[in-house]
Amino acid sequence: MKDTPINSEVVSEIIRQSGIENVGRATIRVIKRLIDQIEAESGEKFIRMEMGVPGLPATQIGVDAEIEALKSGVAQTYSDIYGTPELKEEMSRFANLFLNIDVDTEGCVPTVGSMQGSFAAFLTCNKMFKEKDTTLLIDPGFPVHKQQLRVLGQKHESFDVYNYRGDKLKDKLESYLSKGNISCILYSNPNNPSWICFTEKELEIIGELANKYNVIVLEDLAYFAMDFRKDLSKPGKPPYQASVSKYTENYILFISSSKVFNYAGQRIGMMIISDKLYNTVAPDLKRNYASDIFGQAMIFGTLYALTAGTSHSPQYALTAMLKAVNDGKFDFIEVVKEYGEKAKIMKNMFKDNGFQIVYDLDEDEPIADGFYFTFSYPSFSGEELLAKLMYYGISAISLAITGSERLEGVRACVSLVQREQFPDLEYRLKKFHEHHPLI
Ligand SMILES: Cc1ncc(COP(=O)(O)O)c(C=O)c1O
Repeated sequence: MKDTPINSEVVSEIIRQSGIENVGRATIRVIKRLIDQIEAESGEKFIRMEMGVPGLPATQIGVDAEIEALKSGVAQTYSDIYGTPELKEEMSRFANLFLNIDVDTEGCVPTVGSMQGSFAAFLTCNKMFKEKDTTLLIDPGFPVHKQQLRVLGQKHESFDVYNYRGDKLKDKLESYLSKGNISCILYSNPNNPSWICFTEKELEIIGELANKYNVIVLEDLAYFAMDFRKDLSKPGKPPYQASVSKYTENYILFISSSKVFNYAGQRIGMMIISDKLYNTVAPDLKRNYASDIFGQAMIFGTLYALTAGTSHSPQYALTAMLKAVNDGKFDFIEVVKEYGEKAKIMKNMFKDNGFQIVYDLDEDEPIADGFYFTFSYPSFSGEELLAKLMYYGISAISLAITGSERLEGVRACVSLVQREQFPDLEYRLKKFHEHHPLI
């Protein structure tokens, strides 16, 4: 073994003790535990890029409002399943000011994180029409969505969008939708793990095909307004967050507060159902629900059965944060921009040392710098690269677990990396490059 930045004997021994046969294929949580152990044993701090967790403090406006709400006694009462009137109002305003769409407050519903929103949507959408029982996932994607479908025992199909950007997306999507079994399509935008953002042309294609085949688009906007190539921070002023809602009324949007407001711990997200979908009558719903109206089935059927609503106090937090943003008193983008700035510096360090960015373009435009980026190193598979990088004090996850076909790829999350660690990162990447010269 070469003089790697982390003692190679320690790394090898801990991997051996763990009994994991292929470190590169391990899940995020397993990798986390392994790195915790190596850090403890070696006394060296890793450049930790495996977990997609917020790296900034929770928005104080939310914390204060939530404390106030608890003091005033909201913990005593059940919250309405469909959310407090004040929150619904601010959600609808937010959709109008930052997406330029009109949505009735009825379709603006808080969920226990975006995760509950997608779970509830899969559940309900796949019960709407008996012939439509399959979800289409546009990959690469967030592995938990597939897990949700597996847990639900629902069918899904998926494809890696890497080779189907721009006009090519149309035929590819149509090849799935024309079969008639797809109820809904899910993707995240900006995308976890690749940070690609669909272009207006691509969103238009998705929207038009959703109309043509009567399919619901589940648009996961967990990283809302974090395409830092554009200034999306001004309420009521273009440009707006790019969204399929501009092109179809068959949509449900999921906006997490975890990353936008660094509010992950309180598990609150927004589910925004279009007016048309909310009021859609689908008789097949009666097989499982008391109502055949989609919005009613979703709220009084699915959400009631799951958690009977979202905890009361976080709803007050979200209301206060949204109100401040909607009133133009709090610029949430200014806070999270730090992710993009760090990504830019880090990506350059990787590129300067022989690494390549895997998902690098949105059609012909370089992708934005943000929460995640993907990288590879010539002649390594993603799994091999991950295993090797452990000896250099760098951790990440393999793209293989995200439905990506780019098996050479690795996903890096910038959120937990501190700027003070940049010299270490640079040194470690240089060492890796030196030990693995490119011919
Ligand atoms: C694409 C995507 N969707 C949803 C979530 C989870 O959101 P929440 O914390 O609101 O459940 C994440 C978190 O990493 C994500 O990356």
